[in-house]
Amino acid sequence: MITLTGIKPTGEIHIGNFFSAIQPAIDRVTIQNKEQVFFYFIADYHAINSGVLPQDIKRYTTHIAATWLALGLDEKIGNNCFFYRQSDIPEIFELTTILMSFAKKGRINGAHSYKDKVQKNLEEDKDPDKNINMGLFTYPILMAADILVVRATQVPVGKDQVQHIEIANDISQSFNHFYKKNIFEKIEPILLDDSAVILGTDGRKMSKSYNNTLPIFAESKKLKKKVMSITTNSQGIEEKKNPNDCNIFNIYSLFATETEKKELAKKYLAGGMSWGETKTILYQKFEEYRLPYLEKYQQWLQKENEIEVLLKENSNKMRVKASQYLKEIKEVIGIF
Ligand code: ADP
Ligand code: TRP
Repeated sequence: MITLTGIKPTGEIHIGNFFSAIQPAIDRVTIQNKEQVFFYFIADYHAINSGVLPQDIKRYTTHIAATWLALGLDEKIGNNCFFYRQSDIPEIFELTTILMSFAKKGRINGAHSYKDKVQKNLEEDKDPDKNINMGLFTYPILMAADILVVRATQVPVGKDQVQHIEIANDISQSFNHFYKKNIFEKIEPILLDDSAVILGTDGRKMSKSYNNTLPIFAESKKLKKKVMSITTNSQGIEEKKNPNDCNIFNIYSLFATETEKKELAKKYLAGGMSWGETKTILYQKFEEYRLPYLEKYQQWLQKENEIEVLLKENSNKMRVKASQYLKEIKEVIGIF
């Protein structure tokens, strides 16, 4: 079984990225046997379609690498687990060109990332294609190539990426169908749970693009400020509060044990606790949770050269597999 996931270097890693993609991906690597291979990467070419500046791509690439390594990937990289940078793998881009011919334009028209922008333009009475580049439009095809270049079938992601995986499956099935060969197997998204969208400080989906994130390694003062800014309803201190429809409680639940969750739920239901107090409890839990990783993260940040070497070495190993698969695909299409 082959597992793969990628993260774009477009901002600071937040708890949405961490709990839905990074942590499940790292945890899976403990299931070590020869049949299991893991590919985790920094999706840097995906970042340029949203206008990220060169210095930021570089900075966020180092940040994302240090984050994965500090969170435990450093101990798992090896014969069956690879950590690399997308732009170091030319096979991905060659496969993207091949897959273009199996991606139905009508299907890509419906991809959320593109459709949402068109919708926004229409609402603002603008040309529907204003500020939309082909990188954004063809994004799901590049993502399909990321996955199919190593024939991964298990992809830990957040719920927002499910549609991209469905598109990748449509593309690969269309390829299989045309050549009457079962080259690609079905890809499955691995989701945290059915409702796995973690909400940001403003109640919308937590996203690097909305400035509403709780970055896992933010500086303490900044993190506290962000936690304190989580929107709540206007219930007063004495009022009993419902933990089940509270974003602070939901986020706390990601860090806490079952017993801790029950204890906090009791306090909610009893009344007498202000929103400020719940936020302080969440902030303290967050700090406690990340403490063992924080020091490691800071150490990795200092070792930029070591990160570079590691990414390059892993890219070289990964390319051996990718080029072998690509060769097989090219033989199928008659390009030798
Ligand atoms: P962002 O939207 O912050 O730019 P990315 O698009 O880089 O995040 O997402 C990286 C991974 O994290 C993907 O697997 C994505 O599904 C997941 N993810 C991002 N935001 C959330 C969220 N709010 N809840 C759950 N998963 C998320
Ligand atoms: N599209 C993903 C995101 O926005 C990032 C990504 C690129 C990815 N290629 C991938 C995720 C392949 C999983 C598999 O978060």
